[in-house]
Amino acid sequence: MGLASILTLVVFAAPFFLSRSDGFDVLDPNGNITIKWDVMAGYGDKYDAKVWIFNYQLFRHIELPGWRLSFKWPEDEVIWNMQGAEATLQGNCSRFTGFRPHSCEKKPVLIDLLPAAPFKLRSANCCKGGVLSTHNQNPDTYGASFELTVGVGTTSDAVPFPIPDNFTLGVPGYTCSPPFNVTPSKYSEDSGRRWTQAISTWEVTCVYSQFRAWPTPRCCVSLSSFYDSTIVPCPKCSCNCQGLPGARCVNPGETPPILQLPHGTLQEPTPVVRCSQHMCPVRVHWHVKQSYREYWRAKLTITNMNFAKNYTQWNIVMQHPNLQNITQVFSFNYHPLNQHGTINDTGMFWGIQFYNDMLLQSGDYGNVQTEILLNKDPKMFTFSEGWAFPRKISFNGEQCVMPSLEDYPRLPKTSATTTAASTGDGLWIVTILVTLAIVSGL
Ligand SMILES: *[C@@H]1O[C@H](CO)[C@@H](O)[C@H](O)[C@H]1NC(C)=O
Ligand SMILES: *[C@@H]1O[C@H](CO)[C@@H](O)[C@H](O)[C@H]1NC(C)=O
Ligand SMILES: *[C@@H]1O[C@H](CO)[C@@H](O)[C@H](O)[C@H]1NC(C)=O
Ligand SMILES: *[C@@H]1O[C@H](CO)[C@@H](O)[C@H](O)[C@H]1NC(C)=O
Ligand SMILES: *[C@@H]1O[C@H](CO)[C@@H](O)[C@H](O)[C@H]1NC(C)=O
Ligand SMILES: *[C@@H]1O[C@H](CO)[C@@H](O)[C@H](O)[C@H]1NC(C)=O
Repeated sequence: MGLASILTLVVFAAPFFLSRSDGFDVLDPNGNITIKWDVMAGYGDKYDAKVWIFNYQLFRHIELPGWRLSFKWPEDEVIWNMQGAEATLQGNCSRFTGFRPHSCEKKPVLIDLLPAAPFKLRSANCCKGGVLSTHNQNPDTYGASFELTVGVGTTSDAVPFPIPDNFTLGVPGYTCSPPFNVTPSKYSEDSGRRWTQAISTWEVTCVYSQFRAWPTPRCCVSLSSFYDSTIVPCPKCSCNCQGLPGARCVNPGETPPILQLPHGTLQEPTPVVRCSQHMCPVRVHWHVKQSYREYWRAKLTITNMNFAKNYTQWNIVMQHPNLQNITQVFSFNYHPLNQHGTINDTGMFWGIQFYNDMLLQSGDYGNVQTEILLNKDPKMFTFSEGWAFPRKISFNGEQCVMPSLEDYPRLPKTSATTTAASTGDGLWIVTILVTLAIVSGL
């Protein structure tokens, strides 16, 4: 465990860093989280605002412990009152006598309320504990909103309404733009018969960069097939190397350290992984299971090797040329990602609600799986050259480390060149050859 391992890590990690450090993702070029600040009404030295947070990302979501929206007030503004969210600190409100504001912090941190929040503190679309799903996975929970009353300090009039700057989402990897003025939002009333509008609306867009979020990968891919007895494991040191400083892991039989985090914890727990040669918290396995005359079947298994986390609303994005001909996905949801018609080989898988949408922490139940039936496209289908394996996989929007192409499972040499094998017909011959090879101990 030395230089070689570190080199492997560098080799696998380097291209991945370079392509992602600018935050641009070809599969989701417009993906962003938009914060909308609607000034709804002004009176005296106060104004009411309605704030929205929308997750406009195709496959990235915000999971627990949730968003922690922060910004900086331009002057000595305060928050008098909030519905649907709260500031973590009240700060120094000693200059107010009598009724005191909700928060006097110069840089308040606002968090969502929990789903059980009492009615008098709620607002519409609030109280999801800071979790935002993707629109594909749940169109009801990809957005959040809350209301606040802003006090504008010493000036006697709120006009022009002061807007904060320097927004942050409080989730690793996101950077936010300065606020910019947009067309005022419209709100429907009376079942859409009347429309009111905000006095002014400001937007902030926040974009994600995996590089900023986590310096090393957190997921890897292993492969196997019915026609080759080797299982291609995740590349060694995909996420870390056993024996490197700081690389802690739990061996079989060892009890993982006590992971009980204090209630209402605001930090994402550091992964505590099962010991493996790849040291990733998540492993995705693709098995080419069976070949039929017109179809073939693959099995997709996602294993949580992290003792510190249950992945709620997990998702997988996969690039594979045969995804256009996906016929049936047995135990996951599936949605093709056809961005402007330019991408036709990529799709998204996620769990079925209340069945397998939560990937439990490492252990007996720490995996989810499905079988997938695909129609063989006669123009391109083949089992040779590793064609039947995914080109790219990401878990929760983070790219997984793939085995290198030369390690992919091979068709037995004798039949790799025959058309019968490459079109999949007569694969029973291959199966027999494999069986013979195994039996004869080759
Ligand atoms: C953010 O996403 C929205 C919705 O997809 C899109 O209209 C907007 O252009 C995006 N903004 C940026 C800066 O990418
Ligand atoms: C609180 O603010 C007041 C002025 O508004 C200041 O005099 C006082 O020192 C501050 N207290 C602390 C603990 O910062
Ligand atoms: C806050 O935002 C302003 C204007 O967008 C920028 O000039 C300044 O550098 C930012 N400050 C910090 C601490 O990010
Ligand atoms: C994961 O979920 C299970 C079942 O709901 C729970 O018992 C366990 O404590 C959770 N683990 C973590 C790390 O949150
Ligand atoms: C899929 O996209 C590729 C590249 O954009 C293109 O060459 C190919 O013809 C497309 N296939 C279909 C079936 O649209
Ligand atoms: C596979 O999908 C492509 C693109 O949608 C289509 O042109 C082709 O006919 C399909 N092949 C089969 C066997 O369904």
